[in-house]
Amino acid sequence: MTPDPRHRDSGVRWARYWDSQDDFCETLCSLNARIFIDRAAGPLALSPSDRVLDLGCGTGHVAALVAPLVDCVHAVDTGPNNLALASRNLRDHPKAVVHPPLSPGFIDLDQLGIGPVDVILFQSVLQYLGDMVSVIRALEVAARVAAPGARLLASDLPTSTGLGHSAVCQFSAGLAHGCGHRVARYFLRARLGDYWRIRRDAGVVTFGRKDLFDLAGGVKARAEILDRRLTINGGRLHLLATFPKGHPGSKAAAE
Ligand SMILES: C[S@@+](CC[C@H](N)C(=O)[O-])C[C@H]1O[C@@H](n2cnc3c(N)ncnc32)[C@H](O)[C@@H]1O
Repeated sequence: MTPDPRHRDSGVRWARYWDSQDDFCETLCSLNARIFIDRAAGPLALSPSDRVLDLGCGTGHVAALVAPLVDCVHAVDTGPNNLALASRNLRDHPKAVVHPPLSPGFIDLDQLGIGPVDVILFQSVLQYLGDMVSVIRALEVAARVAAPGARLLASDLPTSTGLGHSAVCQFSAGLAHGCGHRVARYFLRARLGDYWRIRRDAGVVTFGRKDLFDLAGGVKARAEILDRRLTINGGRLHLLATFPKGHPGSKAAAE
């Protein structure tokens, strides 16, 4: 599979866009993280001995909620601004490590020397990698640090490029959590500005069930597709991939 030339540099543009978010966006990220952990904790079955890798941690809200439940969390992202906010949001969590920024697509993940890990999170990340080739590569580098039996949750994956349903879900989640006006302002400011422009020009990767089975198969993991809502976004799919007990990736990482 070769990258779609129309979407050359898409991953770089998205990585830059997400790193240009400011404190204002924190409301939505923090609300979304709370909803995500409430709903994903069951399928993820986090345990106190789990070592977790949050790939595309953003400003660290998911990592901050996961840290008290597990042995350690590695927070990894491409954006220096995101990572500075993540360090602030994780400063009371000694079990969380915020790593230096990586390249788009996490192609240089190996350089961090992380591994083996029991849980890998890609929460609302894979759609911004530019194209399916980059998504496949990101799963491959993640698989190299997975312990035998590790779980990988790639969540919040859009199945189409339509924005309408997502917008309605975000507004209603904001209302239900008492911050509807802030969500509305966020949506108007970010979504109808740069977000929409980049989405129109650069595209987002969309995923069908077969894509998700193929992605898991590509890293020799067993796939379960979740179609319930795990975040404030509706109409999304989530891939829960489980690596086999004999998975070799972590051995390479541990050597
Ligand atoms: C919607 S935010 C999600 C952040 C966090 N996982 C959460 O749920 O709050 C998207 C994340 O994907 C990362 N990202 C965007 N484009 C990327 C790319 N091309 N390569 C790697 N990461 C990227 C951003 O830095 C950002 O942290």
